[in-house]
Amino acid sequence: MSEEDKVKETANRRVVIVSNRLPVSVSAKGDRLKITPSVGGLATGLSSFHQEHDGLWVGWPGIIEKNSKKRSELESVLLGNYNCLPVYLSDNDLKKYYHGFSNRTIWPLFHYFSTYSTYNATEWESYKKVNEKFCRRLQEVVKPGDLIWIHDYHLMLLPAMLRKEMPDATIGFFLHIPFPSFEVFRYLPWREEILTGMLGADLIGFHTYDYTRHFLSSVLRIRGKDQTYGQVIADNRIIKVDTFPMGIDAQRYIDASTSEKVQKEVKSLHNKLGTEKIIISVDRLDFTKGIPERLKAFEKFLERYPNFHGKVTYVMLLVPSRTKVREYKLLKSEIDELVGKINGHFDTLDWSPILYLYRTLPFEKLVALYSAADLALVTPLRDGMNLVAKEYLACQSTEAKGALVLSESAGAAAELGEAIVVNPNDLDMLTQSIAEGLNLGAEEKKKANVLMVERIKKYNVFSWAEDFVNQLTLTMVRQDRDRKRFLTDQKFGEIKEHYKKAGSRLLLLDYDGTLTAIKKRPDLAVPDKELIELLTDLAKDPKNNVVIVSGRDRQFLSEWLGQAGVDLAAEHGAWAKKNSWLDWKLSEPDLNDNWKQNIKPILEMFSVRTPGSFIEEKAFALAWHYRKTDPELGSLRAKELADALHDIVSGTDLQVLQGKKVLEIKPASINKGKAVSLWLEQQDQWDFILAMGDDWTDEDIFMLLPDQAWSIKVGFTPFTEADFFLDSPEKARELLTTLNR
Ligand code: ADP
Ligand code: G6P
Repeated sequence: MSEEDKVKETANRRVVIVSNRLPVSVSAKGDRLKITPSVGGLATGLSSFHQEHDGLWVGWPGIIEKNSKKRSELESVLLGNYNCLPVYLSDNDLKKYYHGFSNRTIWPLFHYFSTYSTYNATEWESYKKVNEKFCRRLQEVVKPGDLIWIHDYHLMLLPAMLRKEMPDATIGFFLHIPFPSFEVFRYLPWREEILTGMLGADLIGFHTYDYTRHFLSSVLRIRGKDQTYGQVIADNRIIKVDTFPMGIDAQRYIDASTSEKVQKEVKSLHNKLGTEKIIISVDRLDFTKGIPERLKAFEKFLERYPNFHGKVTYVMLLVPSRTKVREYKLLKSEIDELVGKINGHFDTLDWSPILYLYRTLPFEKLVALYSAADLALVTPLRDGMNLVAKEYLACQSTEAKGALVLSESAGAAAELGEAIVVNPNDLDMLTQSIAEGLNLGAEEKKKANVLMVERIKKYNVFSWAEDFVNQLTLTMVRQDRDRKRFLTDQKFGEIKEHYKKAGSRLLLLDYDGTLTAIKKRPDLAVPDKELIELLTDLAKDPKNNVVIVSGRDRQFLSEWLGQAGVDLAAEHGAWAKKNSWLDWKLSEPDLNDNWKQNIKPILEMFSVRTPGSFIEEKAFALAWHYRKTDPELGSLRAKELADALHDIVSGTDLQVLQGKKVLEIKPASINKGKAVSLWLEQQDQWDFILAMGDDWTDEDIFMLLPDQAWSIKVGFTPFTEADFFLDSPEKARELLTTLNR
């Protein structure tokens, strides 16, 4: 069955959404409970998807409930009516995990407000505990075949926690806020744990390519894991990291905006405000939203353009949010003061420039506000995506008469380039953009809006979720395939049996990364006593022919393994020395090294430009090592160097090889495959062949092996000719030790 068919086959799996906040929030009204839709992009965006699917949503219902009877009553209502399963938080959880670590540490830091971030070990402990609480709850309800989709910064440890308990589960993670650049993320004392937590997922998604890039860069710098086409390999799994800009349920807004009820609301709003033009903004009251900056720009606009006095009203809708956090309280006072000051200054008997609403609005009223507006100001200082901008445009779809001023620091700016895009910190620019938005011609607005609405309709919340879920399923199908290639106990047993029965055996073993772990410098990776004893023992068995096939030079191999009784191939096969021979032999008599004088100066130049890199010179090869360099600079320079060298070596018989943090230039005719042909010439001479290697150069051996041979890649990669994987040099040694016994 093809990968595509397998993905199709799994299309109807149940999706279990997990987020801190459920799409509905419960509050107590006297003795009665009130259930209302939650506010915030995650809840409003995803709930349309949730309603269309018969899945489950696991999260906090927004209320502290201590009474167990009431808890279970509420649970049946939430499950029965909303497919929601509550996770109850205590006062202490709320204080330390929610208001504390989530909203006083991660939220400000990830939005580049690092001076607001506090680093408190007790709050971190609470964050871990609540993530564990979610993990336990999920273990109770997740069934085999479910797709688990975890959301946002409250639950970044959960993927790895779940992975530990359910190794085969399919887990996706989506971050709804920005992932900051490494320079900022590194401030976090628990940065490594957070990355490890996220890497427990199979697919990790972000709103924009920049957040994806920042995440991958932190994974490289902090966890030392490089990526290939957005794939990271950790704990023997491929983890896919990709960009999925979240959309809205566009049709719901379009339909509502044309409904009679909303049209009536729009009329009554116009009558109530009585001005020619309406400007709006809709936000949670949050310091990331740039509210004071926007108010100051509006004040300046009124000063600069007196012709708009009495003709424009700015309706500022703010919804209370995280009111227990100090910065939010201070911000509320600052906004109240600013609004008072501006209205106080410009108020006339029949006109007030700002109508300030501090509450949630029911859906139809919100849609009416969007539809009535001539201009929307969406000017956050930082915002993961910002769905308000998209909701506003969808509600403008019929007349398309409204303009949009959009901050370049909102994720949405990557998709809505036709808006008036501004720097939210530039007061003058912001002020001018208000005038520009109000004066924009009808045709211009229509042209821009039609393009943007088309995009919003096409990549809506359903296609967004479908795209994510399909990619998650594909990752799962690929992991299933890869898992089968790990050496199981059963296969291990088969190799042992085959080895025992064989009268003549050939063992082809790479050295670095296969028999010994990769070290910062090649001279540090010398064989230990145990390894030398193991190889000596294996070689002593008259049925065995043990060959070390390495990129190392002759001196190193002779010095360290010369006494072990094994055969040796050095410099990827330029040289060979069977144990019975007195000296090394060249594999090709006319190999020359006069090319080195042209190549070496280039490597020297790159070494000077890349601190930490160095050159290793072998008889017929030059290697440029960059393991100790800044990882991103190292990879960049390696690509530049490879490009420069490819031009030089084209048309010659030289080849540039990319190893693990090393570029090697050597004659193209020399490779490990050719090297082992010395032992493989009469294949039927061997009853048992085993080859083990860890990098690209070993692929030349794997490709040559006869069908009945055992080929093992040490370390996991999806790109290999080997039949099986072992995850580390320790495991490779374990295998050899068992065979030897
Ligand atoms: P964030 O997720 O940071 O709050 P978004 O713009 O992505 O920002 O999402 C905000 C969501 O909350 C939108 O779907 C918007 O409609 C809703 N919302 C914001 N303010 C109000 C309000 N006062 N009343 C009702 N809904 C609101
Ligand atoms: C943002 C976050 C969401 C959060 C929402 C509302 O959109 O990404 O995870 O739910 O704000 O915040 P609150 O703290 O009220 O859940």
